[in-house]
Amino acid sequence: MKEKIEALMQEVAALKAASRQEVEDARVRLLGKKGSITELFEEFRGVAPEMKREFGAKLNVLKNAATDRIAQLREEVENKAACADGGASGDLSMPGDPFELGSRHPVSIVRQEIVDIFRKFGYDVAEGPEIEDDWHVFEALNFPPEHPAREMQDTFFVSEGQLVGEGEEKHYWNPLLLRTHTSSVQVRTMERSQLPIRVICPGRVFRNEAISARAHCIFHQVEGLYIDEGVTFADMKQAILLFAREMFGPETQIRMRPSYFPFTEPSAEVDVSCNICGGKGCNICKGTGWLEILGCGMVDPNVLEASGIDSKKYSGFAFGMGIERIAMLKWQVKDLRNYFENDLRFLKEFNTVL
Ligand code: PHE
Repeated sequence: MKEKIEALMQEVAALKAASRQEVEDARVRLLGKKGSITELFEEFRGVAPEMKREFGAKLNVLKNAATDRIAQLREEVENKAACADGGASGDLSMPGDPFELGSRHPVSIVRQEIVDIFRKFGYDVAEGPEIEDDWHVFEALNFPPEHPAREMQDTFFVSEGQLVGEGEEKHYWNPLLLRTHTSSVQVRTMERSQLPIRVICPGRVFRNEAISARAHCIFHQVEGLYIDEGVTFADMKQAILLFAREMFGPETQIRMRPSYFPFTEPSAEVDVSCNICGGKGCNICKGTGWLEILGCGMVDPNVLEASGIDSKKYSGFAFGMGIERIAMLKWQVKDLRNYFENDLRFLKEFNTVL
C-alpha cells in the first residue's frame, strides 16, 4: 500500500494537461469512481487496525494533492483558452482592472503656481543647465574667491576645471559644478538677451548639505530678475508684495529685513504675515506672526558689468525663493524629506489638487 501511495504521489506531481478533456481524463483516472486513488480507499478498509492511522493520513494527503493539482491544471487550460480566443469566452461581466489615477507632485504644483503669477506680471520663463561652470554660478555674481559656497563642503564639484597660467600663476580655472542656485540662469539671460529683461528661472539646485527634516542636498528654486532703466527698490517691493498676495491671500503683509548676498546691494530677506494665524502668532510662525519666504536685492553694478550691461544706464532687482519652502508653508508639511522619497501615501494627498 505504501508503495502504491508513493507512486501515485509522484504521478500527481508530474501531472500535465493541454486541454480541458485531458484534465477531465486525469480526474477520472485518479479520483473517479474507479480511479486509482478511490480504489486505494477501498483497499484501506482491509488494512490492519494498527496501520490505519498512518495510511489514513498519507491517503488524505494524496487525495488533497490530486484535487489541488487538477484544479490548478483546469485553471491553466481555461486561462490559455480565454487568451487564445481573445477573451471572448472569458467572463465578460468581470470588472476591468482599475486604473490608478496619478497625482501631480507638490513641488510641480507650487512651481506652476509661482510661474503663473509672474507670467501675469509679464515675466518670461528661462531655464539653464544643472551642471554649470564656476563663472555662471559664482564669478559673474560677484562671489569673492574665498566665499564658503566655493568650498567642496558646500558645493558639489564635477571637474577641476582648466589648468591655466604659467609658473607661480598656474591654477585651475572655471571648474564644473552642480549649480547651487538658479541665479546662474539669470547670468546666462543677461549675457544673451536684449534689455529690458524680465525673467523668472525655476529649477533644481544642489548643495552639499546633510539631509534632515529642514535641509536637503537637492531642492528647487524660482529666482527672478528685472532690469531696465530706472528700476528702483520700490519697484521690487511692489512686485514682491503683489506676488505674496496672489500666493498667500489678499490680506497678506510683507516686511523686509536687511540681508547680504554677494550679487545684490542693498539686499533683503522678505517675510510674509503668517497665513495660519493671521499674524497673531502660532506654532507655524513660532509665535512671531511672520514667515520667511525669499531673498532679494538690487543687482550689484559689478554683476551687471560682468554680463556686459552698462550699470550707469540700467538698474534692476533680483529675488529667489525655495519651492519646497513655499509648499511647506502652503500645506504645513514639516519634513522636507517627504518631497523626495516618493512615498505614495504622501503623494496621494495631492491628487485632488490640480
Ligand atoms: N540666489 C540666492 C539663494 O540661492 C537667492 C537670491 C536671489 C537672493 C536673488 C537675492 C537675489 O539663496
